[in-house]
Amino acid sequence: MNPPLTIRPATVRDVPAIDRLITFYAQRGIMLFRSHAELYESLREFMVADNAGTVVGVGAMEIVWADLAEVRSLAVDPAHQGKGIGRRLVEALEADARRLEVQRLFTLTYEQTFFEKLGFSVVDKSALPTKVWSACVKCPKRHGCDEIAMVRTLLDAPAIAEPPADAHADLHYDVPTPLVQVNVRSRGSTLRPRAACDKACGSAGRS
Ligand SMILES: CC(C)(COP(=O)(O)OP(=O)(O)OC[C@H]1O[C@@H](n2cnc3c(N)ncnc32)[C@H](O)[C@@H]1OP(=O)(O)O)[C@@H](O)C(=O)NCCC(=O)NCCS
Repeated sequence: MNPPLTIRPATVRDVPAIDRLITFYAQRGIMLFRSHAELYESLREFMVADNAGTVVGVGAMEIVWADLAEVRSLAVDPAHQGKGIGRRLVEALEADARRLEVQRLFTLTYEQTFFEKLGFSVVDKSALPTKVWSACVKCPKRHGCDEIAMVRTLLDAPAIAEPPADAHADLHYDVPTPLVQVNVRSRGSTLRPRAACDKACGSAGRS
């Protein structure tokens, strides 16, 4: 008898299979490509559906802010769709979000009915904080996004006192001019980084 399909956290060995699934849908304009570097870096966000040693589904939960996380890169092998694997992946990601006491999950998707069945509701995209859109710079549809924003509130997660993710959207950080100049001048010179920093930051330096 075949071992049952399991949903488990991804390991480094799963990256080629995760890449294949995401690339399959990215080539069809349904999701964003993710490089191997990005996949290794964010591997702890991923769950996989393991069918007797073969990865047939993936999904990730990325924390955006104190009260918000995104379900992303959700993909089930076309040969295995309609068997409850997508549902099990989202439920596993949701359990992880609850463990981390995240209050709300959101997704940007074309699969409205699927996510509605899992308790998500359509919201206006403007209801999502600005920080959510940082990944969109890599999306070919960034100037005409037609994805649907959907949110699910995890009611049993307690609220914590934190400013919303876009509370400082109007703030920006300027690299101090002296540091930029020293870095440019020190290129190819014998200045070591610490010396460059001391020079740029004054005698106090930075620890
Ligand atoms: C969306 C996707 C993950 C669903 O995975 P799946 O394993 O086929 O879904 P499940 O079998 O778990 O379905 C769960 C429920 O949603 C329903 N459902 C799934 N896909 C549906 C669709 N396209 N339209 C309507 N209902 C759908 C199922 O009928 C099932 O309903 P039930 O519980 O009443 O029986 C899968 O189709 C996929 O990989 N799509 C391409 C990538 C994609 O769009 N990902 C989402 C990006 S965020």
